[in-house]
Amino acid sequence: MNEAPDTFAPLRDFVRAMTALVESTREEATLLAEGRGHLAALIADDGWLPEAFAVPAPARYMQYLLHCDPLERFSVVSFVWQPGHRTPVHDHTVWGLVGQLRGAERCDEYALVDGRPVASGASHVMKPGDIDAVSPTIGDWHRVSNALTDRTAISIHVYGANIGAVRRHRLDDAGAVHEFVSGYDSAVVPNLWDRASAVRTRAGGC
Ligand code: FE2
Repeated sequence: MNEAPDTFAPLRDFVRAMTALVESTREEATLLAEGRGHLAALIADDGWLPEAFAVPAPARYMQYLLHCDPLERFSVVSFVWQPGHRTPVHDHTVWGLVGQLRGAERCDEYALVDGRPVASGASHVMKPGDIDAVSPTIGDWHRVSNALTDRTAISIHVYGANIGAVRRHRLDDAGAVHEFVSGYDSAVVPNLWDRASAVRTRAGGC
């Protein structure tokens, strides 16, 4: 019997590694350093993201939940951008790692001056394999956009909370700060746990 390959293995391995990590420490520097290694391994493989979680929408960028830790210690989200899509200037309020999977994203950096986010004038472009870190202690405000005009951009994010349910902040065009809760654009998460094919293979088939 020809079994389907286990395409979810990289994401499942990442979820397991992050679960072990948040179980082992609450220290942000360690979470970011070790999480970066796990995320690098995940985005080195471009074959695991299901199509339903990689679909762009015309009106705005999409945020698809891939996994949320049952204790909400971390969440994993795919962000999908068409050309022209960009976020508002925003913060996260928790630690986060952003890994570029496909295409490229531009990050415009902001700094807090007297408690208000101000453009630092610095920006950088993320290419596949690149990883950014954010948090209130290392720098939490930025604006992200698709850096290319001819293709979809996809990045994989891991945050130290159920990020779609976190009260965060955005800056409007007039410079006023507003609270927001992002939510998610997906109603389901991928089924990482149907490992029957690997088990059947080990058992010699049935
Ligand atoms: Fe962000």
